[in-house]
Amino acid sequence: MKELARLLRYSAPYTPHLLASIVLMGCVGAAQALTVLLIVPVFDRVLDPKSADAPVLLFTTPLWKHQVYLESFVPASLHNVWTMVAFAILVVFAVKGLCDYTANYLVNYVGFSAVTDLRQDVFERVLRQDAHFFESNSSARVMSSIMNDLEKIQVALSGILADLLRQSFTALGLGAVVLQKDWKLALASLTVLPFVLVPTLRLGRRIRGTTRRAQDAAAELNQVLQETLTGHQVVKSFGAEEVESNRFRDRAERLRRRNLRYVRQQAIASPVIEFFGAVTIVGLLAYARQQIKSGAMSTGEFIGFVMALLMLYEPVKRLTGIHNIFQQALGASQKVFEYLDGDQLIKERPGAVRLAKFEKSIEFDNVSFRYPGSPQGFLMEGITLEVRAGEVVALVGPSGAGKTTLANLVPRFYDVIAGEVRIDGRDVRDLRLKPLRDLISIVAQDTFLFNDTVANNIGYGRPNATEEQVRQAARNALAEEFILRMPEGYNTVIGERGMKLSGGQRQRLAIARALLKNSPILILDEATSHLDSESEALVQQALHTLMQHRTVIVIAHRLSTVRKADKIVVLEGGRIAETGTHEELASHGGIYRRLHDLQFLEADVNL
Ligand SMILES: Nc1ncnc2c1ncn2[C@@H]1O[C@H](COP(=O)(O)OP(=O)(O)O)[C@@H](O)[C@H]1O
Ligand SMILES: [Mg+2]
Repeated sequence: MKELARLLRYSAPYTPHLLASIVLMGCVGAAQALTVLLIVPVFDRVLDPKSADAPVLLFTTPLWKHQVYLESFVPASLHNVWTMVAFAILVVFAVKGLCDYTANYLVNYVGFSAVTDLRQDVFERVLRQDAHFFESNSSARVMSSIMNDLEKIQVALSGILADLLRQSFTALGLGAVVLQKDWKLALASLTVLPFVLVPTLRLGRRIRGTTRRAQDAAAELNQVLQETLTGHQVVKSFGAEEVESNRFRDRAERLRRRNLRYVRQQAIASPVIEFFGAVTIVGLLAYARQQIKSGAMSTGEFIGFVMALLMLYEPVKRLTGIHNIFQQALGASQKVFEYLDGDQLIKERPGAVRLAKFEKSIEFDNVSFRYPGSPQGFLMEGITLEVRAGEVVALVGPSGAGKTTLANLVPRFYDVIAGEVRIDGRDVRDLRLKPLRDLISIVAQDTFLFNDTVANNIGYGRPNATEEQVRQAARNALAEEFILRMPEGYNTVIGERGMKLSGGQRQRLAIARALLKNSPILILDEATSHLDSESEALVQQALHTLMQHRTVIVIAHRLSTVRKADKIVVLEGGRIAETGTHEELASHGGIYRRLHDLQFLEADVNL
């Protein structure tokens, strides 16, 4: 129920629309009741040639016993039973249709608007989530929630809300009709209701769970789909089409089973209700035979009553269906709200300060760190290190030593578990996040580029950059030459993740992007590994431009690229093993020396 209240809160801004549609649906309900009231004169008067031209009594108001006649609603020129009833039927249906249409539109307006707002909120929240969130929630799962789960909620909020209003008011109108026609009979026929309602309400709760599981299955299917689409080359090269096909079939089958279970639970309601309806009608017929024989009831009145009762069952039946779909929406909203409420590990502290520029140093002060997702895993300990403004500091060490991890602590992708990371003397946890990250540019080994034009990719960090600034950045990154060779130059769309570019070209675009961002601190994380030597030479040259007048933390696989660094820090197993310049470390005979010699050996072999 908490979820329902929260969902309804999203509809609150659209209250006027909702109120208007409630009024209009009220009219629909009243029109429905009127249709039933018109059935009596149809049978007793219009179809009975013997009937006198007496006024047509519609109903008697309950308290004052005031009698309401059809004549009072119809123009005087039509006061003949047949034309009058015909006219009334047409008007009632026209008004009902118009109200229904408008109310339906308004309710859907509310539903779609509320869900759009909710979806935006969830997206904003996910967008600002930290690295840990993305490690523990697969992107396919999040995607499935933002699209499919919200879709379910939208169906409930618009289509179903419309139906709920329409059916409730219809039930009210028809209920009033049967009560005023013969209240004892009406109450007697309504005694079957509890037999119908109690089990369906029970079922609703089960449906909520089933939906939750079906949504999980849908997310798994989505995951397989996404992975095979993005990894299509790997699938092909390993000939894994069969495996993936089976994986997909398996997940699809699971989704099918769960959907069918939902259908089994959901579809049982309607036949049950209908059967109880049939029981009631048989009972009624027995009673009516007596009444009609004794003259206490006319055929028209009886038909009117049965029609009203039958029509009353329809809303009851629909309302239980609606209840089920609501349960489904509530099941779906659970995950959505989980994302909205999810803990954020990396948050700005209240009163965090804005660091506008970087002037002195980055300090790691006795830092310890573990990944929040693997408390038993990799541990980094006792890291004390200073990077002064304008320096180039290289992090080297075997793969898995913690180089990337250490660099990621500066832009606060993760928080330390002990010690402090300080920029210009301030703990990064006391800084506003966006200004902090504005100070830092990162060029990593796997560059992510957007499926957009070259110019927009370069301008990503500075959307208001001029065309000339973009070109200048591209020139400095030695990228302009290949950009101009592309079919539409700077306006060429580069494909998903920059698929249409070579590794070296992607890397140079990433460098141009970082150049344009123009941050004082630069992190280069193996930006040149996995490039062929020709593009590496170009990328190196571009990096050289990028490094000028900046403070740089460079992680390099090849030691040849770090020789000129002001300081080299050798990491091993999450600890600092050695620190010094190239000359100091090379003469020292430690790990650096060993790595160095190994690489020269490798270079000899390659020759
Ligand atoms: N997101 C993560 N969650 C848990 N462990 C991680 C994560 N990322 C890296 N690790 C582990 O941390 C260690 C250091 O990784 P990393 O800093 O990437 O090494 P490298 O020095 O090669 O850059 C590795 O043992 C790796 O398995
Ligand atoms: Mg790394």
